[in-house]
Amino acid sequence: MQAYLTFMALRLQECHRILKPDGSLYLHCDPHAAHYLKQLLDCVFGSLNFRNEIIWRIGWVSGYKTQKRGWIRNHDTLLYYVRSHAAFKKFNKEYLPYPEDYVRRDGKKPTGKGFPIEDTWNCHSGDELHSEMLKSFSTKKTGWPTEKPLDLLERIIKASSNEGDMVLDPFCGCATAMVAAERLGRQWAGVDIDETAVGITLKRLQDVSDTAAHNVDLDGFREGLPTVHLPPGPPKRTDPDRPVRSPRIRVIRWHELGKGERRPCPGCDRPKYFDDFDLDHIVPRAKGGLDADENLQLLCSSCNRVKGQRLTMTELRKHIQTERKFELAEQTLKL
Ligand SMILES: C[S@@+](CC[C@H](N)C(=O)[O-])C[C@H]1O[C@@H](n2cnc3c(N)ncnc32)[C@H](O)[C@@H]1O
Ligand SMILES: [Zn+2]
Repeated sequence: MQAYLTFMALRLQECHRILKPDGSLYLHCDPHAAHYLKQLLDCVFGSLNFRNEIIWRIGWVSGYKTQKRGWIRNHDTLLYYVRSHAAFKKFNKEYLPYPEDYVRRDGKKPTGKGFPIEDTWNCHSGDELHSEMLKSFSTKKTGWPTEKPLDLLERIIKASSNEGDMVLDPFCGCATAMVAAERLGRQWAGVDIDETAVGITLKRLQDVSDTAAHNVDLDGFREGLPTVHLPPGPPKRTDPDRPVRSPRIRVIRWHELGKGERRPCPGCDRPKYFDDFDLDHIVPRAKGGLDADENLQLLCSSCNRVKGQRLTMTELRKHIQTERKFELAEQTLKL
């Protein structure tokens, strides 16, 4: 689990970094990892940006699964976070249509848009989102073992984006998210490490739209050997309203991460190798201890000394900015 969380920590930080202020993140997981991932996401996104834990009932249970002693597992979890309040404001509320014979308590026909969708999905007859993999007769199956129903992805994409927006699935498998995005008029990008997944993705996107297939970079795939272009350094944002990087980066098992890579210090922004960071953990238990946002910060040794027990992270950053202004003023005076 720790190796998985380390793997995810780096990727979630990158997702957070490139997400626009009005962007959202949905992380699909099962109950083995859901609670650990929630902690990780609270650190990366800030717990105030956590919006919902969505329980997706996978489908009906039959055969040997019904024989299990104890409660039968039948749900996955989607953790929904926003990048900032702008994303929350953008949310497009969705409704399930009233059943034909539905009447209000006063006996009248309902006038509203339908039942607003709650945080439990596929849990009653008006709301069908069964897993593709459970449907042995499904014609939609692509052969990819973790295929998700298109309706599930469409619900998510409709709620948290508008036409023309960009949808990224960094673990896209058989590209259900891309197909859903294309159908809904969104731009999309998908990433997967597996060659078979890439093959299925190309075929699916060719099926959904000619334009989509033309947009897929086929370079190298004709021989069955994907060409991977690695640009130097992390990808850069091009939009002018780029959000300020959060100083609240906390990393679990940090010493295992990114050896040989340089990252900016969350205090002074100077790029440092991971080995040069100190782990700041001095927030007393009474004030949150290891769970405090201010704790387990990776700081360069100079920032760590300045911060000590006296300053919070925000105060530390302010202090550094003031120092810099003084230095600049001094240099200008000398000139
Ligand atoms: C749980 S599946 C996601 C399935 C996908 N959302 C779908 O609907 O089919 C995880 C995917 O991540 C891919 N994967 C695993 N490690 C990866 C890595 N390091 N980089 C990119 N993709 C990776 C796997 O090949 C797999 O397709
Ligand atoms: Zn520093």
